[in-house]
Amino acid sequence: MQNDIESHLIEKRVFKPSKGFSKTARIKSLAQYRRMYRESIRQPAKFWGREASELVWRAPWKKVLEWKAPFAKWFVGGKLNISENCLDRHLNGPRRNKAAILWEGEPGDKRTLTYQQLHREVCRFANVLKRNKIKTGDRVIIYLPNIPEAAIAMLACARIGAVHSVIFGGFSADSIRDRIIDSGAIALVTADGAYRRGAIVPLKKNVDEALRGGTSIKRVIVFRRTGSEIHMEEVRDIWWHQELEYVDANCPPVPLDSEHPLYLLYTSGSTGKPKGILHTTGGYLVGVYSTMKYVFDIRDEDIFWCTADVGWVTGHSYIVYGPLANGATVVMYEGAPNWPEPDRFWKIIEDYRINILYTAPTAIRAFIRWGDQWVAKHDLSSLRLLGTVGEPINPEAWMWYHKNIGGGRCPIVDTWWQTETGSILITPLPGAIPTKPGSATLPFFGVEPAIVDEKGNEVGPNVGGKLIIQRPWPAMLRSIYGDKTRYRQQYWSEFKGNYLTGDGARRDEDGYFWIVGRIDDVLNVAGHRLGTSEIESALVSHARVAEAAVVGRPDELKGQGVVAFVTVKTGVDASRGLKEELRDHVAAHIGAIAKPDEVRFAEALPKTRSGKIMRRLLKEIASGAKVTGDTTTLEDFSVLARLSESEE
Ligand code: WT7
Repeated sequence: MQNDIESHLIEKRVFKPSKGFSKTARIKSLAQYRRMYRESIRQPAKFWGREASELVWRAPWKKVLEWKAPFAKWFVGGKLNISENCLDRHLNGPRRNKAAILWEGEPGDKRTLTYQQLHREVCRFANVLKRNKIKTGDRVIIYLPNIPEAAIAMLACARIGAVHSVIFGGFSADSIRDRIIDSGAIALVTADGAYRRGAIVPLKKNVDEALRGGTSIKRVIVFRRTGSEIHMEEVRDIWWHQELEYVDANCPPVPLDSEHPLYLLYTSGSTGKPKGILHTTGGYLVGVYSTMKYVFDIRDEDIFWCTADVGWVTGHSYIVYGPLANGATVVMYEGAPNWPEPDRFWKIIEDYRINILYTAPTAIRAFIRWGDQWVAKHDLSSLRLLGTVGEPINPEAWMWYHKNIGGGRCPIVDTWWQTETGSILITPLPGAIPTKPGSATLPFFGVEPAIVDEKGNEVGPNVGGKLIIQRPWPAMLRSIYGDKTRYRQQYWSEFKGNYLTGDGARRDEDGYFWIVGRIDDVLNVAGHRLGTSEIESALVSHARVAEAAVVGRPDELKGQGVVAFVTVKTGVDASRGLKEELRDHVAAHIGAIAKPDEVRFAEALPKTRSGKIMRRLLKEIASGAKVTGDTTTLEDFSVLARLSESEE
């Protein structure tokens, strides 16, 4: 039996950065990238020291890196405050009056916060935290809609050294409770509700349920967003706006050790118990600052929109800390992309004249499904750069994004990273690195990835294997909160001293990385290991397919059989004939080995709140089993019932 993950989808298109883009970009050529990359690998202390020195430190670091695998300390001995770097440092020049956040609520309400205004709100809220006896090192849960107060609360915690843990507003009471128990948080910041597709998500009600019977939470601070009727528990619950009446706007940032914990962010693990990914201050700031600067080539005059929610790491790093550390202007949008119509994103881009758009492949596929007419209604000519993150982008979706959104003129940065990595690790630099649709291309500065086989030996070009990172980087996680053993075991033990990403990938003859998806998603069909995402890409390249998810099911003959769940574009007749056509289409694109044994049409696929397809559920459905286990992260429960009915 073969151990390599086979890769059959070879993409030949190459897109060079345009001369115009390269001319003004920070990194202007492949040669310049290679020179800097070489330096960052040979003299990491010099490279990262230079990046860090662009920021404000209250005490200088003594050593850039102390690496006692698997525990890293960056900028050892240095003291700084990340909120000071995101706010105060911009107040002595023209950025003082520049918009930091341009916010739009789902109902259409708008707010602008300049750097000075944001600074003031953060100081005031930090004083509210202090007033409520929240101290350096205490954990604070933030469970808010995608509104400026989420960023304000995060930065206010950071200002006093409290550790925030943001929980995405789509999570349920059970998820909140689990995270409170694991983190031992003493305070929680929430809102009376959040707008989502015209309805109100009862955030406060979920919190009440999570806190029932008692937890470590002593204070709940409630922001009034929707004006809904809510229960306020005497003593425990207080209103944000009322608290502000007791405080002033004077709150000096507390100088913190470079390794002081900044935040915990929970991500689902294979065992089901959520893992609190721990990020610290100095290294994280340098990582997000530097990637924001080079990957998005951010300019003072740019308007940058990362469509993620602050509840995900993407929002932490590229709505809040990365852009603000760079003094950038960000757009923040509260609601759904198809509210009130499927052109909301394009309308926002037109209204704000957005220059850089950073979104997810799952969103792009939804836009393709909704139809080009929604895009065509709007002037997107302000865009100069596009980005994606979250999963492999299939080449057809990449081409659609390039043509329909980027007007054929915008580079696309397909950025590979994880909650654990804190910042982008594999990515094109838009003025320097030619792109290939579907590839995250080359490593960012200071990042040394490799692809290895089961024994840890590096594999050759175009051979699939496990993606590892061979040295520490500044924004890396420092531990799993409260569980160093699990941290060591999960990420650092399979290939000693190397970080195991859990992703499968291959590297082509130009050294470009192609992520095939999570290792757990790899199928073994008759001794061939196939990445499910390749088969999905082949299916989605068919003109009538909108989205596809491929899973394995036990097969007596082949080990695993291939089952494809497919949604078709609006107006397409999902017929039996089409099923056959799709099976042949996969065979033609990848090979007979990957031909789905079964194609099932579905109205929608079961996804997590962050848009990841929940393959575990599909696997259970595909093998005819009842769906068991945790479904609390599922976005739309009705999808499950409909899928189970979709059997022939
Ligand atoms: C996993 C991490 C990083 C923020 C969003 C997700 C997949 C992420 C890409 C990409 C292919 C990607 C990987 C990774 N992934 N970006 N550009 N190309 N795959 O954070 O929830 O921690 O998920 O998302 O499988 O391991 P996350």
